[in-house]
Amino acid sequence: MTQADRFYMAGVMGWPVMHSRSPMMHNYWMRQQGLNGVYVPLAIKPGTVEEALRALHPLGFSGCNLTIPHKLDAIPVVDEIDDVARRIGAISCVVVREDGSLYGTNNDWRGFLGNLRQTVPDWSGPSGPAVVIGAGGGSRAVVHALVEAGAPEVRLVNRTLARAEKLAEDLGGPIQIIPWEKRAEALAGAATVVNTTSLGMVGQPPLELPLDALEPDAVAADIVYTPLKTDFLKAAEARGNRVVGGLGMLLHQGPPAWKLWFGLEPTVTDELRAMIEESILNG
Ligand code: ATR
Repeated sequence: MTQADRFYMAGVMGWPVMHSRSPMMHNYWMRQQGLNGVYVPLAIKPGTVEEALRALHPLGFSGCNLTIPHKLDAIPVVDEIDDVARRIGAISCVVVREDGSLYGTNNDWRGFLGNLRQTVPDWSGPSGPAVVIGAGGGSRAVVHALVEAGAPEVRLVNRTLARAEKLAEDLGGPIQIIPWEKRAEALAGAATVVNTTSLGMVGQPPLELPLDALEPDAVAADIVYTPLKTDFLKAAEARGNRVVGGLGMLLHQGPPAWKLWFGLEPTVTDELRAMIEESILNG
């Protein structure tokens, strides 16, 4: 089938899903790539993701992204899951293969790294220890990304210590677990600090993290993107640190998904970023 004969289809399964910015982003790339196609929000009720995933092939979808609450539920459903998704413990992207079988992977960690590298081009993983605040699903992708990028040490801080311990066991790598009360001291000598908790998000309490011990050339990143710049990032920026917002992690997990679904690699342009930022600012 030539490109002109084909209608390209993918989507995002979630519940709720209508708040998702993914359709806006992927449909921008459909235009950027000059394709006939669509990326749709798929409101899939909890407990029904198996039927929904199995319908992708007969409907002609190349694949889909998964969001809350389906990222974990899809694990026993897909026919093959890659090692990264298994270790992170969540599937963010499903690929429909030609024979109809389903392959599950996780591109969130690629999104985090892609965004960090686009925003701070001279950032280098091996340049120093990284501090990661939080040990939930987002943290797993971030810790994996930092280990992959060659961070010599990841200092993992979480309110619930047992959750950090489980993460370290599942992911492996040079992870040091630090108690919540010691988070300010943990910043000493770090090259990177990342908030992966929900603290600082609209409607949530702020992240309380004194930055006095943070090196001036360290990079501060957040995976929260509502607001686009959290108070944590504002405080880091005010002391001269370079900062990386959370929205780009969403944007940069898109191109790896496109490569798997369609064999194409769209780009994260300033125009795309501005479009999604505007939609967030306008609620
Ligand atoms: P996600 O999958 O989006 O990362 P999650 O799994 O609910 O979400 O994880 C949320 C993270 O924010 C966790 O690290 C959580 O800490 P606990 O493991 O101790 O629950 C952290 N978090 C949420 N509210 C917090 C608070 N008030 N103080 C400290 N940490 C908090």
